[in-house]
Amino acid sequence: MSSVLFVCLGNICRSPTAEGVFRSFLRQAGLAETIRVDSAGTGAWHMGEPPDIRAQDAAALRGYELSAIKSRRVRTEDFFEFDYVLAMDWSNLQELRSLQPDDSSSTVSLFLDYAPAAPTDEVPDPYYGSGEGFETVLDLVEQASVGLLKELQTKLEKP
Ligand code: 4NP
Repeated sequence: MSSVLFVCLGNICRSPTAEGVFRSFLRQAGLAETIRVDSAGTGAWHMGEPPDIRAQDAAALRGYELSAIKSRRVRTEDFFEFDYVLAMDWSNLQELRSLQPDDSSSTVSLFLDYAPAAPTDEVPDPYYGSGEGFETVLDLVEQASVGLLKELQTKLEKP
C-alpha cells in the first residue's frame, strides 16, 4: 500500500485540508483502499483538536468533510510508515528534514512540487489572516492533489 502524510505547522488548517481533499480525490479514483492518507503538524499546540472551524466550513462548501480529523504531531515512525511526507511550506520542510532519520526511506518534499503551474511553491498559512486565505489553501491543495494523484496512479500502473 502506498501512503501519504501531509504536514503543516499546527495540523488544524492546511494539512487537514490536504488530507480531506486528497482522500476525496482517492475515493473518486477508486483508490481509497489502496493509498493511505494522514496529516500531522510540526508543532504540538493543537494536539487532539479538530481542524479550525474556518477550514472545516470552507472545505464543506466544496464538498470536503474534515470534522473527524484530530491534530497530532509528526513522529519519528512517520518517516518509516509513509512513502511521501509532504510539507506545506519551506519552514515545515526544513523542520521535517531535521527530524528525518538517515535510514528512513520517505520522500520528503513540498506538496506544491505537484502543482508546477501554481503561482507559488508554498501553501500560505491562513491562521492569522482573513477568511480568503482558506480559499487560497483549497485552490492550491486541489491543484497539487491532481498532480499527486497522477504520480501515484502512474506508479501503481508500473509492475
Ligand atoms: P496550520 O495553521 O499550520 O495550517 O495548521 C496554523 C495553525 C495554528 C497555528 C499556526 C498555524 N498556531 O500558531 O497556533
